[in-house]
Amino acid sequence: SAPGLLDKHGRTATDLRVSLTDRCNLRCTYCMPPEGLDWTPASQLLSDDEVVRLITVAVEHLGVDEVRFTGGEPLLRKGLERIVAATSALRTADGRAPETSLTTNALGLERRAAALASAGLTRVNASLDTLRAERFAQITHRDRLGDVLAGLRAAADAGLGPVKVNAVLLRGVNDDEAPDLLEWALHEGYQLRFIEQMPLDPHGAWDRSQMVDAAEVLASLAARFGLQPEPSSVRGSSPAELWHVRRLDSSGAPSDGEALGTVGVIASVTRPFCADCDRTRLTADGQVRECLFGSREHDLRALLRSGATDEQVADAWRGAMWGKVAGHGSDDPAAVGFGQRPTRPMSAIGG
Ligand code: GTP
Ligand code: 5AD
Ligand code: SF4
Repeated sequence: SAPGLLDKHGRTATDLRVSLTDRCNLRCTYCMPPEGLDWTPASQLLSDDEVVRLITVAVEHLGVDEVRFTGGEPLLRKGLERIVAATSALRTADGRAPETSLTTNALGLERRAAALASAGLTRVNASLDTLRAERFAQITHRDRLGDVLAGLRAAADAGLGPVKVNAVLLRGVNDDEAPDLLEWALHEGYQLRFIEQMPLDPHGAWDRSQMVDAAEVLASLAARFGLQPEPSSVRGSSPAELWHVRRLDSSGAPSDGEALGTVGVIASVTRPFCADCDRTRLTADGQVRECLFGSREHDLRALLRSGATDEQVADAWRGAMWGKVAGHGSDDPAAVGFGQRPTRPMSAIGG
């Protein structure tokens, strides 16, 4: 069959992340300034049909078998259910439906989870950094914790699981909350993952020395839980490293028997997974980005609007991915990309 999305470092991208909008209804401090950003004008955004056409090319011609919808906040896209339904109706070259998932802040999910599940959505990952209403408002600049919790519950009830919850710990804000978050996630049946903050904040204030890293998170969890690493081979295409969680008995040893669940860390900075990266990204305005931190974009929207065939679009996409950078190098002073910020904010690239 035709070649997929190979790059010159020997990787193959099979996981497509599609940003459906650069807008968001929260203002997480590590992502967006309180006043918002200069949103992309509607004429520059891909239409629902254009998004579906590009996803079709990726799945039918380029070997993509997982499609994740992101933003900004993808629930702000009215056509989301339609786009999900069209995506899950596609078949890969070997006849399988692509896996479809959503990365969301969960606002409004309460009302839409059932329809998204009917449209064929397989899973939901949601962001939640704190269970305390004042902290939630401090981090996101909105008072919506209750809506987020209701959205998560609705997703799990609609079968969009296992629901994964992404938490970013911020020094002096919620860095004491890891064990409480885990207690809650185990109780609710969600898989909690702690993400190291990456240098993607709007004002470039990220500081490596302030970052709450994976080692610190694990140490704070180990004070309350027994953690046992899952064999590393299981990471697969997910960036999270997982630990089985058990209660500690009165002697402080992990108790026997079934684990209560798992917890993950996404150590993007201290243990980068760039060497195993299997992602390609499409921005809401139709640009292929070969990496979150890449400096180049490739304009598939212009190609589509000039009447290109599927084969021509596929060729352009292959060409874009071939030049993918080896890695972001955020934590490696010797790396080419060290200290480099992406050319667009996270919300426009699609987390
Ligand atoms: P799963 O398959 O469910 O594990 O999805 P995921 O973890 O890839 O998706 P999600 O959208 O939940 O992303 C979680 C976090 O992974 C993001 O917040 C980023 O911090 C990180 N991440 C996702 N994609 C990339 C990437 O291409 N490069 C880097 N460095 N980090 C990424
Ligand atoms: N560093 C790490 N993760 C981030 N996210 C947003 N900005 C950053 C950052 N600077 C996370 C959100 C969401 C996911 C898609 O990306 O918490 O869960
Ligand atoms: Fe919105 Fe997600 Fe950015 Fe928070 S991290 S402002 S929820 S896009």
